[in-house]
Amino acid sequence: MTSLSAYQLLFTSYLEGYAISKDPKGLYDPAHYLLTLGGKRLRPVLTLLAVEAYGGKAEHALPAALAIEVFHNFTLMHDDIMDAAPLRRGKPTVHHQWNVNTAILSGDAMLIQSYQLLEKYPDPLHGILSRLLSSTALAVCEGQQYDLDFETQTNVTLEEYIRMIKLKTAVLLGAALEMGAHIAHAEANQAMQLYEFGVLLGLAFQIQDDYLDAFGDPKVFGKQLGGDIIENKKTILFHLAMQKGTSKDHQDLKHWFSISNDKVSEEEKINAVKTIFTQSGATTATLELVEEYTQKAFHHLENLKMGDEGKYFFKDFGTNLMERKF
Ligand code: IPE
Ligand code: IPE
Ligand code: MG
Ligand code: MG
Ligand code: MG
Repeated sequence: MTSLSAYQLLFTSYLEGYAISKDPKGLYDPAHYLLTLGGKRLRPVLTLLAVEAYGGKAEHALPAALAIEVFHNFTLMHDDIMDAAPLRRGKPTVHHQWNVNTAILSGDAMLIQSYQLLEKYPDPLHGILSRLLSSTALAVCEGQQYDLDFETQTNVTLEEYIRMIKLKTAVLLGAALEMGAHIAHAEANQAMQLYEFGVLLGLAFQIQDDYLDAFGDPKVFGKQLGGDIIENKKTILFHLAMQKGTSKDHQDLKHWFSISNDKVSEEEKINAVKTIFTQSGATTATLELVEEYTQKAFHHLENLKMGDEGKYFFKDFGTNLMERKF
C-alpha cells in the first residue's frame, strides 16, 4: 500500500458493504447512521498497518478492523449518553436524534456485531481475537466508570488520570494493533510490544482529545466545544492547572467545578475555566505532554522487529495524530 489514505479507503469501502440497514429499523438505523457519519477510522487503519508490517495482507485483517471500528462506535454511542453530548462528528448524537433507549439497545447490538465479525476467522485465531476483544472491552468499561467517578471526586491524582485514559481509550488502540499482528501470525512477543506502542500512542491521543475539547476549532471539531468543562471532567488540562496554577487558580477552578450548572451560563463557565487553563500554563504543558507520549511511542517502535516500511507508516500515523485538529 502506498499511503495511510489508501488504507483508509480500503477500509471505508469494506465498511460500506457491511453497513446496510435492516429491520427493525429502530435497532439498525442508528448504528448505520453513526457508522457512516465518518470519523477518522484510526483504529481500523492501525489493524491494517499492523498486519502488513508483519508480512500479512491487509485484506485478511478487514473483518477484525471492522470489528474494532463497530466496537469503537458502540462505545461512542453510549459515551455520548453518559457525557450528555449533543453533537458527534458534526451531527446530532444518536440519543438526541432518536432517544436514550434507542441509543442503549442499538449500542448493545453493535457490541454483539463486533464479536460476530470476529467469527469470520478460523480457530485458533478466532479464540485469540475474541479473548483480546473481551479483555479490552472490559478495560474500556472500567475506564469509563473511573471517568464518571472522577466528575464528582475532588482529589484525583495525575497518576489516576493516566490510568483512567489508558483504560478508556489507549488499550483499544493497542488491541487494534495486536489483532493485526496476530492475523499476520507474528511472534507473541512482537504482538505484545506492538500493543504497548499502541497504548503509548493512545495516551497521546486522549490527551490531545482533552485539549481539543476546550481549544479545538469549532469549524472542524464536530463535538460540543467545552463539553468536558460543562460536565466537570477531570481532564489533563484540569490536572496540569492544579499542578501549575497559583492558589487563586486552584480556588477558582474548584469553584467552577463544584457550582451547579443551572446557576451559571455554560459560556461563562467555559470561558472562565479556559482562561485559568491558559494563564496557569496548563494549555502549553498539555501540548508538550502529547509530544512527550508520541516520542515515547516512537522510541518503543524502534525496537520492534519489522521492516522499515512498517515503521515509516506508524511514524507517519503518530505524527498525523499529534497534529490533528479534530
Ligand atoms: C473519539 O475517538 C473517542 C476518544 C477516544 C477520544 P475518535 O476521535 O477516534 O473518533 P472518530 O471515530 O474519529 O469520530
Ligand atoms: C472517550 O472519551 C472514551 C470512550 C468513548 C470509550 P471522551 O468522552 O473524551 O470521548 P469524546 O470526546 O466524547 O469523543
Ligand atoms: Mg466520555
Ligand atoms: Mg465523550
Ligand atoms: Mg473527549
